Amino acid sequence: MTTVLTGYGPWGIVAGGSDGVGAAFAHAMAARGMNVVLVARRVPVLEAFAGEIRARHGVEVRTVAIDLATPDALSQLEQATADLEIGLFVYNAGGDDRSAAFLDKDLATHLTLVHRNCHSVLEAAYRFGGPMVTRGRGAVVLVTSGAAWAGGATLAAYGATKAFDLILAEGLWAEWRDSGVDVLGLVLGKTDTPSMHRVLDGKGGSLGEVADPVDVAEQALDHLGDGPTWIWGSNPTGGSPFGAMSRRDAVLVMSRGATTTG
Ligand SMILES: NC(=O)c1ccc[n+]([C@@H]2O[C@H](COP(=O)([O-])OP(=O)(O)OC[C@H]3O[C@@H](n4cnc5c(N)ncnc54)[C@H](OP(=O)(O)O)[C@@H]3O)[C@@H](O)[C@H]2O)c1
Repeated sequence: MTTVLTGYGPWGIVAGGSDGVGAAFAHAMAARGMNVVLVARRVPVLEAFAGEIRARHGVEVRTVAIDLATPDALSQLEQATADLEIGLFVYNAGGDDRSAAFLDKDLATHLTLVHRNCHSVLEAAYRFGGPMVTRGRGAVVLVTSGAAWAGGATLAAYGATKAFDLILAEGLWAEWRDSGVDVLGLVLGKTDTPSMHRVLDGKGGSLGEVADPVDVAEQALDHLGDGPTWIWGSNPTGGSPFGAMSRRDAVLVMSRGATTTG
């Protein structure tokens, strides 16, 4: 099954769309006929990737080089796309590629993560989801993580931001489900991306069993209408993998995972 996306609108945005999961989303969206706006910070990587999408899929591609952790990022993105009908917004950027204990990172690093992973996600949903609701069509994907299910050592701030994204997606799904706008909170486990490789380079460990970003993106696009939550793995519409485990035990399990591979 390959879902056609143009029913949502002619353009999609991938925030964090030049490598890893975001690049896979961009390819998959373009392959399904959508023009794409790609957002990232590193201009050469962004422009090279945009060229690849144009050449391979023959769609229109616009690049917007902004840092999603800055206060006016989403208003800049809104201005840069004001002439386009955005039918699908994928908020993908969100990885934390330096795993360390809470107090071993400076406060500014934590606040930057929170800005990109919470503040800007909410702003994206508001600024781009609002017009979708008004038009009665569209879709929003917020990419989150298994780190959202429970707290864990070295994951305190990251996991907290991902829990924010998960709950935000679920709440918006509930509010918008009768408006023609699909919302999906996409919960990922370990996925083979440059960001994940940087984590492993920083602390050692092996990749182990990982998802392919191409499969992740294709599956998410096939299930945009199956929100509120899509969990990569064997039980995609299920609940927390920790089930009835006590919160304490879940946190200890999560902490063990974080200190082995991440
Ligand atoms: N990979 C995994 O194992 C894994 C596991 C669970 C959940 N996830 C989730 O999956 C999503 C994607 O992860 P990923 O591993 O592909 O890496 P990622 O670092 O979240 O995403 C990389 C993309 O985002 C862009 N980006 C990062 N920070 C940005 C910023 N401040 N402003 C603008 N663009 C930014 C990067 O380009 P620039 O660097 O050029 O800006 C690149 O295009 C994240 O939300 C992550 O939490 C990943």
